[in-house]
Amino acid sequence: KEKMITGITPSGEMTLGNYLGAIKRAVEFQDEYELYVFIANLHAITIPQDKEILRKNTKEIAALYFACGLDPQKSTVFLQSDVLEHAQLGWILNTQSSIGELSRMTQFKDKSSKTKAQSKDYIPAGLFTYPTLMAADILMYDAKFVPVGIDQKQHVELTRDLAIRVNNKYGTVFQIPEPLISKDKIKIMDLQDPTKKMSKSSTNQKAIIYMLDEPKVIEAKIKAAITDSENLIKYDPKNKPGVANLMTIYTTLKKITIKEAEKHWQGKNYKDLKDDVAAALIETLAPIQQRYKQLYNSSEVEQWLKDAAIKAQYEARKKLNKVQNALGLNYNR
Ligand code: TYM
Repeated sequence: KEKMITGITPSGEMTLGNYLGAIKRAVEFQDEYELYVFIANLHAITIPQDKEILRKNTKEIAALYFACGLDPQKSTVFLQSDVLEHAQLGWILNTQSSIGELSRMTQFKDKSSKTKAQSKDYIPAGLFTYPTLMAADILMYDAKFVPVGIDQKQHVELTRDLAIRVNNKYGTVFQIPEPLISKDKIKIMDLQDPTKKMSKSSTNQKAIIYMLDEPKVIEAKIKAAITDSENLIKYDPKNKPGVANLMTIYTTLKKITIKEAEKHWQGKNYKDLKDDVAAALIETLAPIQQRYKQLYNSSEVEQWLKDAAIKAQYEARKKLNKVQNALGLNYNR
């Protein structure tokens, strides 16, 4: 079986964007591929974190992974910091990348301008080397495919470049990975500003659907979502980004095409649209939330993560040995 890997950074609570952009598809692939899914807590600390909140977010995402359908018998679901080799390979990849290419990462540019605005000229160095650690996550397990949202595509492309570079220089040690973006390249947008992506680190809570939002909260957020004054349900992301976003959420949840959705809403108004979207969300999230509640305080989740970490450590150790050997980082061959 070919390998696949993906992860979420626990810098906030898991959002609908994380689910629809990456996790839902990863779950669908777990029979066909050898799937690795992890919680990227080393990435989370590239921006300041309160340790109790970080623990809580980590624990929540872990339970949510399994509640979303990741099966501990089939997939390796682990905590990044449990596998020390990630940091070691990340360091090695830092030495193989340039300041120029890391400076071109749009996520770095966005996040560094934000932290800079908040605290004068303080930009954590970890934000800059974030992509090399991400490359380490991916290359460690010979992943062929990386299911991610479109916002992470550039990082996976950098990972490819690094893998090719190292292979050319030192002999083939890495599998060349590919980003696996959904066909329709879905990007779930902010409900209050549909020109930017729905992000867990956003400050406007009303703008984000969290996986653990209760039905009433979901209804209220969708009801308050920004649309436009036309009251015409048409898919036009440029001119009608709010309406297009609601339509995308619905079609992705219902697995129907935009055309089918437009037909479904012919002659209907925004209230109908919002009622349908809220109902579809509740229908999808309710069973996940129910499983989550059973899992959250059970000791099972922790045991699953520990077992998976042992398996991941074994694979990671093998890969790291190979890389260190290729670079001459050992006394004897
Ligand atoms: P993160 O935590 O920002 O997001 C997790 C996944 O969710 C996707 N995503 C979205 N998709 C569609 N619409 C949105 N609004 C939306 N918001 C987020 C992201 O594209 C991502 O797939 N750097 C990664 C974590 C990571 C990783 C890795 C992923 C670290 N190492 C190795 C894959 C492989 C991140 O911060 O994702």
